[in-house]
Amino acid sequence: MKSLLWLVGLVALAQQPPTRILVAYHSESGNTEKLAQAVRAGAASVAGTEVTLRKTSEVKTDDILRSDGIMVGTPVHWSNVSAETKRFLDQVGNTLWKAKSNGDGKTAAAFCTGGGVSMGKEAARVSILSAFLTMRFTVIGGVDAEGYGTLGAEATTGPADPGISEKEIEEARRFGERFARLTRRLRSSP
Ligand SMILES: Cc1cc2nc3c(=O)[nH]c(=O)nc-3n(C[C@H](O)[C@H](O)[C@H](O)COP(=O)(O)O)c2cc1C
Repeated sequence: MKSLLWLVGLVALAQQPPTRILVAYHSESGNTEKLAQAVRAGAASVAGTEVTLRKTSEVKTDDILRSDGIMVGTPVHWSNVSAETKRFLDQVGNTLWKAKSNGDGKTAAAFCTGGGVSMGKEAARVSILSAFLTMRFTVIGGVDAEGYGTLGAEATTGPADPGISEKEIEEARRFGERFARLTRRLRSSP
């Protein structure tokens, strides 16, 4: 009986449509792009997930409408998101509005890179998350190496800590995995 239930559960999972995740990022000098690639790899590691990685400037209306979850990556510009990221958030809102839809039942998340340790990375991610909350998305954060929850993956890239470290890449991968796993769970619940 137990193994029959297990089998039924497995069949039901296999019949579930794929969970579609859009990872959209803006990047001028490649740092946020690197983090986005790690986030994408983490999300793609979850069975039954289809991930689309796109520059925000190349995201099409259909990419937004068909996605079950949207992850947005931005460089920090003057302690906030870049102007291009803000434009993209407006695009998401306008696209859903025109389709007479909203973020109910969909998930969203934020990640960023910034030159300084404490020069706006939190504000940038909160800015993205609050835009998504206003559109009625369910927002999902990350978990750091110590087990604390975070606002999403981040990396410091300035002279004091240049580039993206392996630790930051690993955290971004785990963030992508967690996002895809929880999005799939949300989409499969009645
Ligand atoms: C116009 C501009 C403003 C910036 N403002 C900040 C800032 O306020 N705080 C910060 O930590 N880094 C700031 N930076 C640094 C970038 O956030 C950082 O280099 C980032 O990793 C760039 O990402 P990218 O390579 O994906 O473009 C700024 C960079 C530019 C070009």
